Amino acid sequence: MPTLPRRRGIEAANRGWPTVVDARPAWPVLDLVSNSAAQTREIGARLGRRLRTGDLVLLHGDLGAGKTTLAQGIARGLGVADAVQSPTFTLVSEHPTVADGHPSGDGGADGDRPAHLYHLDLYRLSGDGELDSFGFDDYLAPADGVALVEWPERAASRLPPAYLLVRLEPLGDGKRRLAIEAVPPGGRYAWLGELRRELSGAG
Ligand SMILES: Nc1ncnc2c1ncn2[C@@H]1O[C@H](COP(=O)(O)OP(=O)(O)OP(=O)(O)O)[C@@H](O)[C@H]1O
Ligand SMILES: [Mg+2]
Repeated sequence: MPTLPRRRGIEAANRGWPTVVDARPAWPVLDLVSNSAAQTREIGARLGRRLRTGDLVLLHGDLGAGKTTLAQGIARGLGVADAVQSPTFTLVSEHPTVADGHPSGDGGADGDRPAHLYHLDLYRLSGDGELDSFGFDDYLAPADGVALVEWPERAASRLPPAYLLVRLEPLGDGKRRLAIEAVPPGGRYAWLGELRRELSGAG
């Protein structure tokens, strides 16, 4: 990653809208600076609106990086009505979506429309055995929704080869850097370029 656009983006980050650090259309990583929790939720909402049944989103970052905050925005974009919090004592929490909260929503007749958000937080995972105790593998390609995983590195050996990866990094001052990347590039997350264009034009 070249340093020049990176520095420019961070300097520009005092303005009201998240900054797209590298706006080259074909760049495989959507690199953003969010200036507030509200902006992180807005980015999440725009991302959530594009998710389809079977999608898997990995949220990577230290304690307090903003994973759950982003998850709250993704939930909003998916049309989840109830509150998404850190599932402190459970490893997974399930949230139904409402049909009119998602652009392709029509009451569930469209097989692509995620009917559930499965929010996994593996921070307190005690080992691989515990993954089996709640059927972890079934959540990785959910048949009726999308899955978000906080602390995915705790289950590194069990992750499938394809997912959307979001890396969050605190920059101080309420700012967070978000790097969003389809692994492998393109595929079912090829809309990432569209999201980049949307966010680049929004400022
Ligand atoms: N730009 C920002 N984006 C996201 N969160 C922010 C931002 N600025 C401040 N915050 C605050 O940082 C905190 C992030 O907490 P959050 O629970 O989302 O982190 P987390 O990565 O899920 O942590 P954990 O690993 O403990 O689950 C929240 O209190 C949020 O309001
Ligand atoms: Mg969290």
